[in-house]
Amino acid sequence: MASGKHFKYIVLGGGVSGGYAAREFAKQGVQPGELAIISKEAVRIILPPRMYLDVAPYERPALSKAYLFPQSPARLPGFHVCVGSGGERLLPEWYSEKGIELILSTEIVKADLPSKTLTSAAGATFTYEILLIATGSSVIKLSDFGTQGADSNNILYLREIDDADNLYAAIQAKKGGKAVVVGGGYIGLELSAVLKMNDLDVTMVFPEPWCMPRLFTAEIAAFYESYYTNKGVKILKGTIAVGFDADANGDVTAVKLKDGSVLEADIVVVGVGGRPLTTLFKGQVAEEKGGIKTDAFFETSVPGVYAVGDVATFPMKIYNDERRVEHVDHSRKSAEQAVKAIKGKEAGSAVEEYDYLPYFYSRSFDLSWQFYGDNVGDAILFGDADPGSAKPKFGSYWVKDGKCVGAFLEGGSPDENAAIAKLARAQLPAASPDELKAAGLQFASKI
Ligand code: FDA
Ligand code: NAD
Repeated sequence: MASGKHFKYIVLGGGVSGGYAAREFAKQGVQPGELAIISKEAVRIILPPRMYLDVAPYERPALSKAYLFPQSPARLPGFHVCVGSGGERLLPEWYSEKGIELILSTEIVKADLPSKTLTSAAGATFTYEILLIATGSSVIKLSDFGTQGADSNNILYLREIDDADNLYAAIQAKKGGKAVVVGGGYIGLELSAVLKMNDLDVTMVFPEPWCMPRLFTAEIAAFYESYYTNKGVKILKGTIAVGFDADANGDVTAVKLKDGSVLEADIVVVGVGGRPLTTLFKGQVAEEKGGIKTDAFFETSVPGVYAVGDVATFPMKIYNDERRVEHVDHSRKSAEQAVKAIKGKEAGSAVEEYDYLPYFYSRSFDLSWQFYGDNVGDAILFGDADPGSAKPKFGSYWVKDGKCVGAFLEGGSPDENAAIAKLARAQLPAASPDELKAAGLQFASKI
């Protein structure tokens, strides 16, 4: 057997799920020395004395929002988990007080499930009785497609805190310059806004006919595109970046588009999707829909090995379907569910099946939307979707087989957001499209 450290429980990945799993383990009871979190993340302090510091789990959504604000940007330790869901902030000291070992700046490069052994890039080995895989996603890079010039300097991606530091430094260095944002999804929309707030000249480029096509209807997208345009963000649709020019230092100077046009650029931010980090486990666990297949307790096909957050493809009970979800609410809740199941199994007590209602949200400029449920069937827009309004508030219901299965709301109050969540969970019979449109939020609020 390999020499090295042994733990009863190992959480692989110190991101959102890793942090919420640690809190749940502490709640359920762990003995000092039983639990370790292994993660490759480390924060780089850019300013003198130029040092490296380990970083405990934090709320990743801050990186594309407050971390990049021109005034009073958020910094650690302000957004360690679990502040994002209104909980206690788990500082590095919290882990040591609980006897939970945070093994950071440590990348695992080999996982051998039969011998229950993880091996780090530095050659250290870690054995476990129970493993919780919480490795999240990595960014898809344009160099993965062989896009010419994609390795030039200042072509930036955003996943981890050192990416955000690089982006922040580039924004400071290129003040008043030109930024091109490649991608029209979550990163594309959130980053275009924050770059504009930093007074850069921003152009968004994406291949689809409208932004955020995996959730937005054309009508919803039209609101955000007009709002962004009014803020000065230029939007180019239906084309992609096919190459980049760089100067003698290797710094990007221009983005070449498929339609033949060329955009000058001092910074390029790319958000063309994520890829769940499952490679370590290929051939060792069952996979489904691009993720690691789990049951309703997040246990994989290998007993004692659990997978949560972005990497898990789990039974979505409400839709009698199996899905993978790349959003923070699920990463928190799946981690809690897995730990309850692990501890429940040990105690011989029953744990309820995971019954998740999809919940996605985003914030940019003065806007804030929430979505609950499933965006399938016919979409019915309601409310004031005029981007010129002082306080636009509008939404959409999705109706399938006569039932309201999904609901979106821009500008809602906490009570109104709670009402659309309740509606999507209840899947109430829908009124006619005209009635739904006329009733608007009243339809959800009356439940
Ligand atoms: P997460 O990515 O949080 O953590 C994985 C951890 O595992 C990382 O620390 C990584 O370094 C580590 N790791 C991976 N492989 C490893 C290895 N081999 N060895 C050691 N460590 C390893 N969602 C939402 O609902 N609302 C929002 O506003 C946002 N905003 C947002 C902004 C940005 C910039 C990103 C990148 C993502 C979001 N998200 C979001 C998505 C959300 O953050 C995401 O779904 C969760 O962080 C997923 O949690 P996980 O714990 O699965 O992965
Ligand atoms: P995404 O899937 O939301 O969007 C990807 C977009 O890339 C597509 O919509 C498309 O417009 C574009 N695209 C694809 N190929 C392209 C190409 N060759 N050239 C130009 N554009 C191309 O992914 P993302 O925005 O990169 O986000 C990455 C991850 O981070 C996802 O898991 C996402 O859920 C997460 N995230 C979530 C939030 C949130 O929930 N508010 C915020 C930020 C990031």
